[in-house]
Amino acid sequence: MIVRELKPGIHALVAIDWDRKLFDELVPLPEGTSYNAYVVVGSEKTALIDSVHPSMTGDFLAALKGLGLERVDYIVSNHAEPDHSGSIPAVLAEYPEAKVLANVKCRSLLIASHGLKPDAFTLIKDQQTVSLGDRTLRFMWVPWVHWPDTTFTYVEEDRVLFSCDFLGAHLATSDLYADDEARVERAARMYYAEIMMPYRPHVKKYVDLLAAMAIDMIGPSHGPVYRRPEFILSHYRAWAGDATRPAVVIPYLSMYESTAKMVAYLIDRLMAKGLSVQPFNVVDLDSGRFAAALVEASTVVFGSPTVLDGPHPAMAAAAYLVNALKPKTRYGGIIGSYGWGNDAMQNSLAKMLPNLAVEWFAPVVAGGVPKHEALAELDRLAEDIVRANAA
Ligand code: FEO
Repeated sequence: MIVRELKPGIHALVAIDWDRKLFDELVPLPEGTSYNAYVVVGSEKTALIDSVHPSMTGDFLAALKGLGLERVDYIVSNHAEPDHSGSIPAVLAEYPEAKVLANVKCRSLLIASHGLKPDAFTLIKDQQTVSLGDRTLRFMWVPWVHWPDTTFTYVEEDRVLFSCDFLGAHLATSDLYADDEARVERAARMYYAEIMMPYRPHVKKYVDLLAAMAIDMIGPSHGPVYRRPEFILSHYRAWAGDATRPAVVIPYLSMYESTAKMVAYLIDRLMAKGLSVQPFNVVDLDSGRFAAALVEASTVVFGSPTVLDGPHPAMAAAAYLVNALKPKTRYGGIIGSYGWGNDAMQNSLAKMLPNLAVEWFAPVVAGGVPKHEALAELDRLAEDIVRANAA
């Protein structure tokens, strides 16, 4: 782990987790991730902004020691989740003079997670400043992107913002800066979809907050540093804004090829009309790619066979994910085939999606193999989707 300088006296300590495949046993990491901490050296005081995942504490302490700091006065905890706070107890052991600066929510979470004593803390409030001498830290308490404790730390004189998880990307890279914007955009979109999308109204609010500030550089807690802040802010504005793109995402599975035939038929009809379509077989779902596809898509069509009197369990799991992620999708559809059952599947599936504020198209269900009537209904559904997307 190397220390790199962002500005004179402001250092990035990036713990790169090249090999990690899964975050929180939930989020796929196709390109690994990083845990970013920062050191801000003032003329009188020195502050460490966050720490790293506990598994990387040894390297982190060595890097910190390598900076040759005589003392650390403050450990700013922007967020208590252990991927950023996990090394704080070890840092306190090395630098016992340091006070942990955290808001009241973050303090209670850190005490619960790490057993820190209350007297290890100095509480900070929203918009409070702390002087490092010739540098000033301003703290902004910005709950729900994505925890209730989330805080931004802004170095006023240098116009550098440490944005915590917000605006981050799960991307292990030797690049300090997000200059490979196409690559970073892909990783940041997936990260936004998985972590920030459920909090879209808060995201919008904080993007507006940051747009009104003078910011030269943004150091997030995951992924490379932005020295062109408008790059990531403009993407967040588009992703969190209300506008959608005319695109159809189709989570589906099939047990005896009947639902698969219906999905393939619908895809052909939609493609023939020039619509963008992305099907995802949910039996072995890549949830990261799926979530990323939902960020701006106007339409989701679920394709499921009936199992007992509901959707296939794999579809129920996919529906749970969609409901939890709360995409801004405007239109929804349900298609599928049943065997001995009936058309109850679409009702129970729709009930699993109360957070999806969509206009539902009439469902299309077929008994067994789809025949002429079902295919005609799929033609009608395709027309409805095309018409809605043209509006
Ligand atoms: Fe990267 Fe919410 O922790």
